[in-house]
Amino acid sequence: MMLLSAMNIQGLSMNVIDLNSVRDAKHSADPYDFILGASFLQANALDDLRRDFPNIVKPGYLTVDEVDLHGRFKTLMLASHSYLNETLAPLYEISGVTNATLRAVDLDPRWRAGVLTQLALQTMPSGQVYNSPTRRGMMIRQKVLCDEILPPPPDASTTLLPIDPAPKTLRERLIADTSTSPTCGTCHVMMDPLGFAYEVFDAIGRVRLTDAGLSIDATGKLVSSTNQPELNFDGPVELAQILATLPQAHRCMGKQWLTYALGQPVDDAAELASADYVYAHFVADQLDLRSLIAAAVTSPAFLAPGRGTPCTPGLDQTCNDSPTVSAIYGTCTPAGKCVCNASQPRQLNPATGRCM
Ligand code: HEC
Repeated sequence: MMLLSAMNIQGLSMNVIDLNSVRDAKHSADPYDFILGASFLQANALDDLRRDFPNIVKPGYLTVDEVDLHGRFKTLMLASHSYLNETLAPLYEISGVTNATLRAVDLDPRWRAGVLTQLALQTMPSGQVYNSPTRRGMMIRQKVLCDEILPPPPDASTTLLPIDPAPKTLRERLIADTSTSPTCGTCHVMMDPLGFAYEVFDAIGRVRLTDAGLSIDATGKLVSSTNQPELNFDGPVELAQILATLPQAHRCMGKQWLTYALGQPVDDAAELASADYVYAHFVADQLDLRSLIAAAVTSPAFLAPGRGTPCTPGLDQTCNDSPTVSAIYGTCTPAGKCVCNASQPRQLNPATGRCM
């Protein structure tokens, strides 16, 4: 019950959960606190859920066995199966999948391990024409490791140099480009060698064995941002194996879930302490993904009284949820004004009372 009510406060699941049926549900406390109701899902959310989670036969209900299922971080990062239909299967070079229904399919374990090697995640950071080791590496840094990557300096040309003399692989061109000045390397060494693992995938994540007629070199290294030794790998599966067991990735996963639950970046000291709390629970629970949800919604930052609308720069701010609201860019005062935090690079516009 706590989990649902806390989520409702944050407005997270409003579109999916039927609040009236939650309110009407019977409460029980044995063997743990739970509620029992007909269906907690809004009828119009069911079709989407059925499509996205074809393995859940009856959304809104879980059998005792299913409640006992434990999804582990390791499975998320290493499983060599995915859910495909007739459109997706050929892109994975899988035959025999015949209609539009998604179904579990084993993928080629030489190239595919976990969520990061799926087409969607490989396509997202790609350019329109070619894949981008830089942006793929940036995705790992920012989303999986929670490292900060600064944008390129304005005077750096981010257009790859023409192939001269041809032929050259994308990897070789990128290395040649970013070797022109030592300053390029300070950022690019954090990103590009991670992205090189995915050179076995083209711009939309299909396996490719050559680039510009040359064989693919998918070796790379993870340069630590936390003073740990460098880790070497060859290809996306070895990189996934490293990330699956890396404490920094586990910690980041906790922070990401808290960010999602709060609906805003985890920035200030109290929020970071809550991210530590989520991480500690995640580790204590053998990296069971369910503990991320439970820990995020029981963390002090989530349950903090007075949390409400964050001040948003440039928006006409009405702070009507609560008079004392901490936020990323500022604090909402009882008068409904947004007072900018000194630590943020924002200024208060006295005319509008908004953060600029
Ligand atoms: C402060 C960090 C930083 C520095 C320093 C930096 N870059 Fe980058 N660079 C980035 C980031 C971040 C991106 C990805 C930007 C994006 O597309 O989102 C990028 C992208 C690129 C790309 C495009 C890669 C692709 O796959 O399309 C090239 C080429 C590039 N940088 C070259 C350089 C060169 C040459 C230098 C040195 C003169 C340099 N960069 C210095 C951060 C940096």
